[in-house]
Amino acid sequence: MEKLLKLFLLVLTFSVPLFGLTYSDTKFNVIKFGAVGNGRTDDTNAFSRAWEATCKSSSTSSTMEVPSGKTFLINPLYLDGPCNNKIINVEINGNLIAPSEPSKWRCNNNACDNWMDFRYVDNLSIIGHGVINGRGSKWWSTMKALKISSSNNVTLSGLTFKDVPHMHVVLDTLSSVSVSNITIDSPGDSPNTDGIHIAGSTNVVLDHCRIGTGDDCISIVTGSSHLKISDIICGPGHGISIGSLGKHESHETVEYVEVSDVVFIGTMNGARIKTWQGGSGYARNMIFERIYSQEASKVINIDQFYCDHMECFTHESALKVSNITFRQILGTSSNQPAVNLACSASVPCTEIVLDSIFLQHNDNKRASVACNNAYGRAQGTMVPQIACLNQT
Ligand SMILES: *[C@@H]1O[C@H](CO)[C@@H](O)[C@H](O)[C@H]1NC(C)=O
Ligand SMILES: *[C@@H]1O[C@H](CO)[C@@H](O)[C@H](O)[C@H]1NC(C)=O
Ligand SMILES: *[C@@H]1O[C@H](CO)[C@@H](O)[C@H](O)[C@H]1NC(C)=O
Ligand SMILES: *[C@@H]1O[C@H](CO)[C@@H](O)[C@H](O)[C@H]1NC(C)=O
Repeated sequence: MEKLLKLFLLVLTFSVPLFGLTYSDTKFNVIKFGAVGNGRTDDTNAFSRAWEATCKSSSTSSTMEVPSGKTFLINPLYLDGPCNNKIINVEINGNLIAPSEPSKWRCNNNACDNWMDFRYVDNLSIIGHGVINGRGSKWWSTMKALKISSSNNVTLSGLTFKDVPHMHVVLDTLSSVSVSNITIDSPGDSPNTDGIHIAGSTNVVLDHCRIGTGDDCISIVTGSSHLKISDIICGPGHGISIGSLGKHESHETVEYVEVSDVVFIGTMNGARIKTWQGGSGYARNMIFERIYSQEASKVINIDQFYCDHMECFTHESALKVSNITFRQILGTSSNQPAVNLACSASVPCTEIVLDSIFLQHNDNKRASVACNNAYGRAQGTMVPQIACLNQT
């Protein structure tokens, strides 16, 4: 009996560290690094120290914890990798607030572009039910709230963003990204506050988000491809936009974008592709389907004459827009035209497919359609009739 017990203890002492080697998740709570969380004390340095420990830890998986029930005042913060080939979790269950006044921002080397800036962190997961409040109403300007760049395998989920000074979430040069269950809640009159901005990123799945803001709910710009966006409620805001592309005669590309199951509520656009005159490149291979519009203004909008300042000149060159399907687009529009296919005069849009559209103008009036140099076909139920699309 005693022998057996000894053997058992021996097995136990050896197997525990063995289990420990195969998997360990070391946790780093910002409170242990000196964060106060009273909403007044500047907790930036404590967050930096907790991040440093999380990133440098030698365990297979490490977690930076921002505990719930507290509010942390944070100035611009870099969260840099690389973190030695392992899994990095950031659990934000507490709330984060920005300083109350523009003059109170403490910026790194005067670079006041991003509030929380994750760079070069592979296998990064940022989750939690925390609320991130940019207190931006005093200076809607240039500060993006959360930027994640130059990383592979990124997950973002659960968080709420409010009143940020500029874009809410920026995904830049990422691959294999999953964004879900994000709430964005900023006023409809807040300038340039894109909800989720995707640049140069591939293999992105974005779903189950509620986005209300003053600019695009989702914007997708050059270098992005293979995106699946679904189950989105957008409004107020400017809709889901590809672009703008081709500004300052640049060569830009976006392709393989699938957008489905979206509700637009009172937005300025629904599904939009916007390009500047004079650019080159393409926007192609996209599907927008199962979209419901409640008084969005231009529900379907290809605008190759995009110009957000007073003077824009006529150019011959343009991005090529091709293979774009709009399928099962229903609801009401507050604008005429509800469907706008304004393609470049010199470079026509081709393979534009409108399949099963039922759109009415608010007051039960017939919705109208405008086209310029658009080629493709209409099929299925078509209200209104899209007579101006050149058949191919
Ligand atoms: C995490 O990222 C690195 C690349 O930086 C990769 O080699 C590694 O296999 C990834 N996955 C895990 C589970 O650590
Ligand atoms: C991606 O990251 C998750 C953790 O967030 C990890 O479980 C998974 O193994 C990673 N995938 C790869 C291919 O490394
Ligand atoms: C979405 O996030 C909230 C916290 O913000 C959480 O309570 C909820 O369980 C999440 N839902 C899903 C389906 O993950
Ligand atoms: C058109 O775009 C869709 C959606 O991305 C894609 O599945 C399809 O292969 C494209 N067609 C051609 C001919 O490239």
